[in-house]
Amino acid sequence: MPLRRELHGVIIGLIAGLAIGSIIKGMIIKTEIRDLYNQISDLKRQIAVVKVAIPPLRNLAEKCGIYIGAAVERSLLDIPDYAYTLKQEFNILTTENALKFGPVHPQPDTYSFSDADYIISFTERNGMKVRGHTLMWHQQLPSWVAQGNYSREEWINIMREHIMTVVGRYKGRIYAWDVVNEAMADNGTLRDTIWLRNIGPEYIEMAFRWAHEADPQALLFYNDYGAEGLNVKSNAIYNLVKSLLEKGVPIHGVGLQMHVSLENPSNPQEVAANIKRLNDLGLEVHITEMDVRIRMPARWEDLVEQAKMYRDILRVCLSAERCKAFVMWGFTDKYSWIPGYFSGYGAALIFDESYMPKPAYYHIAATLIEHLTKK
Ligand code: G3I
Repeated sequence: MPLRRELHGVIIGLIAGLAIGSIIKGMIIKTEIRDLYNQISDLKRQIAVVKVAIPPLRNLAEKCGIYIGAAVERSLLDIPDYAYTLKQEFNILTTENALKFGPVHPQPDTYSFSDADYIISFTERNGMKVRGHTLMWHQQLPSWVAQGNYSREEWINIMREHIMTVVGRYKGRIYAWDVVNEAMADNGTLRDTIWLRNIGPEYIEMAFRWAHEADPQALLFYNDYGAEGLNVKSNAIYNLVKSLLEKGVPIHGVGLQMHVSLENPSNPQEVAANIKRLNDLGLEVHITEMDVRIRMPARWEDLVEQAKMYRDILRVCLSAERCKAFVMWGFTDKYSWIPGYFSGYGAALIFDESYMPKPAYYHIAATLIEHLTKK
């Protein structure tokens, strides 16, 4: 009997010990979780404080009299963080792919407007402008165009019908169109495209005239890359737009794409001089596709260097007489064309893959504030 009682005692003791042990363990785990939670909350609070302290970029940009924006994809607008960041921070969006010839006009008699419609109503709900990209380009063409075999007159009709339909559909709703994109080769001659080959150099002025006819309010842009500073290509573009203006062609601006890398920055003084000569012609300038690619993995010093490059170009834009939009080719490193096109490169935008602002974001905010305090 006593042995049994002792055994009972031991068993009860063991059970009690286990119970107390697991309560203590539970408390420890709970404390750890609480500590972790507090740490996360602290971090969130710190971020919130910084975000409260700095107004969203769009508010600052508006006060500076410019638009700040990003290129967007329809499918990504369903991602809450993506849509939230866009409407919080930007006041102009560019259709990255939705309005290109191939996606929007896949068959001769078929247009596919749903993606562009969605993006444009998103901008309207959120008080943003739209840059329509792009009417005449040599890439992303549907096969009925890319492999088409038509007479010159038929090519002209294809172009006219496309421009009148697409621009006409969004009449009064698109702030600026990239009417002609990348028509100049690096050596300063017109790029050998399907449009040049089949229609001749007049295709450029035809495109502007029809776009203007379809939407007289829209600002019409020539847009290109590698011609941001002073070089053979930017000289040729300057001469092209000057001759268009002399012929009375309705062109209102030039887009400087600004796809650059840490190793290959653009020279801010040259960009300023190029913008000035375009402004002197009476043309507006937009920075249309800026990103700054970095060889991966990106180090902190690279991000700081990148931030300075964003800052320098924004400063140039803000000091110009008429540089009215600063648009990046995306905004989060989670979705960018860079890794797919430049192997080993990435981290080109101002938010990281978790939508956290990078040094470039803070430099942009600081540059806008600096401009406001100088005014
Ligand atoms: O939408 C199709 C999808 O249906 C298909 O399954 C998939 C398979 O590859 O392709 C998808 O289309 C891709 C499209 O992006 C949308 O994601 C195309 O293949 C791809 O070629 C296309 O790339 C775009 C590129 O232009 C085309 O040259 C990039 O997203 C876009 O960022 C890039 O943008 C250009 C500007 O228009 C002009 N300036 C340079 C800039 C960067 O290249």
